[in-house]
Amino acid sequence: MSTDTLIITDVAPRDGLQNQQVPVSTEAKLKLIQLLHEAGVASIEATSFVSPKAVPQMADAADVIAGVNRQHPELRVSALVPNQKGLERAHAAGAREVAVVLSATQTMNEKNINMDLARATAVCEETLHAAHELGLRTRAYVAVAFDCPFEGPTRLETVVDLAERMNRAGAQEIVIADTIGSASPGMVKSHFEALGKTLPLHKLAAHFHDTRGMASANAWAAIQAGVRRFDASVGGIGGCPFAPGAAGNAATEDLVLMAERSGFKTNISIPGLLQAIDFAEAQLGKALGGRSIAWLRRQHAKRSTL
Ligand code: COA
Ligand code: ZN
Repeated sequence: MSTDTLIITDVAPRDGLQNQQVPVSTEAKLKLIQLLHEAGVASIEATSFVSPKAVPQMADAADVIAGVNRQHPELRVSALVPNQKGLERAHAAGAREVAVVLSATQTMNEKNINMDLARATAVCEETLHAAHELGLRTRAYVAVAFDCPFEGPTRLETVVDLAERMNRAGAQEIVIADTIGSASPGMVKSHFEALGKTLPLHKLAAHFHDTRGMASANAWAAIQAGVRRFDASVGGIGGCPFAPGAAGNAATEDLVLMAERSGFKTNISIPGLLQAIDFAEAQLGKALGGRSIAWLRRQHAKRSTL
């Protein structure tokens, strides 16, 4: 069995919370980040510097970044930025890592960031260059990489082309995102095989949503294709407000369980994740958890009463 380590970025505080109807305080966001950190999660997407009119849930981005820097200066934390203004706000708040977001279709870029594909590509390239000048670490999302809720199946050639452009613009990590959770393991295999021909696999990350229950199967296909970086969201919290039909992200606990059972290391503790899920459930007032949650809770309850 492999002893490779997976690098998991928990995106719950951003991808998870951007779509919640219940207001979540800055303090609660910081507590969730702390619990994830205590569970061993070494990389967290904490917030986004987007228009507060578009996503009011992220209006406190500067306070979240300042709070995390104060409480956990050693933690790797990123913030999503849609444009230069977002980058400036993130940098002023003390962010050390930013993620730009480029969708692989015209309509998704228009709905998400009000730019056509060409403009969105240019803005992402400029933002990556500017971030580099500021000494920030960078990630670039290629969103709706499998299917677009508005245009249907995404062309693989476009995904590869955009990923290459983001790589040339200096993105240190390129996140191939199944924004609406429509991918299958076969599609994941062909995508990463094609991407791996011209891009370094160690820079590629996979970001799945579990809309059709296939996130773990898709993660396994990505692992088999050589991918070692993954986004996931504790408790499977998530969904994009601008992509109809997008359900929660791949649950971090499902990914950790699957990976560890298959001989990969994650350095993340399941009991620690369960505490974060309990906390998030109390905040959001609803049941959370990925496919394995019932079994994980039973196992954990057994252990703690032994
Ligand atoms: N942060 C905060 N405010 C911003 C901003 C940013 N990054 N970028 C632009 N704005 C403000 C402008 O200052 C302007 O404010 P005003 O109305 O008070 O003058 C207003 O937003 C409109 O600016 P404009 O450049 O015309 O933007 P837009 O209306 O075309 O919207 C985005 C573009 C990118 C700002 C907006 O679509 C957005 O924030 N999208 C994010 C979507 C998202 O988070 N999706 C989920 C994650 S992938
Ligand atoms: Zn997502």
